[in-house]
Amino acid sequence: MDISQAPVGVFDSGVGGISVLRELVKLMPNENYIYYGDSKNAPYGPKTVEEVRRLTVEHIDFLVERGAKAIVVACNTATSAAIDLLREKYPDMPVVGIEPALKPAVLSKQNARVLVMATPMTIREEKFHHLMQEYEAQAEIYPLACPGLPEFVEAGDLDGEDLKAYLSEKFAPYQGKVDAVVLGCTHYPFVRPVIQELLGSSVAVFDGGAGTARELRRRMRESGILNPSGEKGEISILNSRETAEEIALCEKLLSL
Ligand code: SIN
Repeated sequence: MDISQAPVGVFDSGVGGISVLRELVKLMPNENYIYYGDSKNAPYGPKTVEEVRRLTVEHIDFLVERGAKAIVVACNTATSAAIDLLREKYPDMPVVGIEPALKPAVLSKQNARVLVMATPMTIREEKFHHLMQEYEAQAEIYPLACPGLPEFVEAGDLDGEDLKAYLSEKFAPYQGKVDAVVLGCTHYPFVRPVIQELLGSSVAVFDGGAGTARELRRRMRESGILNPSGEKGEISILNSRETAEEIALCEKLLSL
């Protein structure tokens, strides 16, 4: 089989990576995609690094066995824990991760005050510390761990009262004191309207999905494996929680 026809494998701890899949499809609609969400084990944020590594490698192996020509780790937590390991394991394949979109947020305004929302693990890991060090001279950066937030999205709650109460409490110390917010977890773009409403329209919101899609296209072009087809590709959605409700939620999120 011609490798350019093979699917791009997209992985997340659950349904959040669909926010990245949307960006991939927008940029490269002619590619075929296979998405695997590990909702049975979500959330990954509170787990140990070893556990996240084991689960991530296991599911990426599954996508490679299904014939993926390139991999997107559409989960900030899994990227921070396992991306180096995956690149070592699959040196001949484009393996692209996602990290908080700090650069555009910092550059959005001089001396910007930037709130970075992410899971506790993403904030704890070395990758994030390096990222912060790169930009902390140009901006005030406030990391904000949001344990419990992916669970709202996993349950399909994108704008309920409990979600609003959770976010209001998290944002209380920062109200009127930030210029930009970075959505450092792929589940968060699905609650972006609520985040924007609570922080106010003057706060700019950034996420890394579109940047990850552009990076994958660049890497696939370099490897000569872009699909030349002019037809719309196929998208196959799989989840470790194999219920019809779960797949329906994934399809709803993809269509938002
Ligand atoms: C989680 O599963 O805890 C969230 C995943 C992410 O960081 O994108």
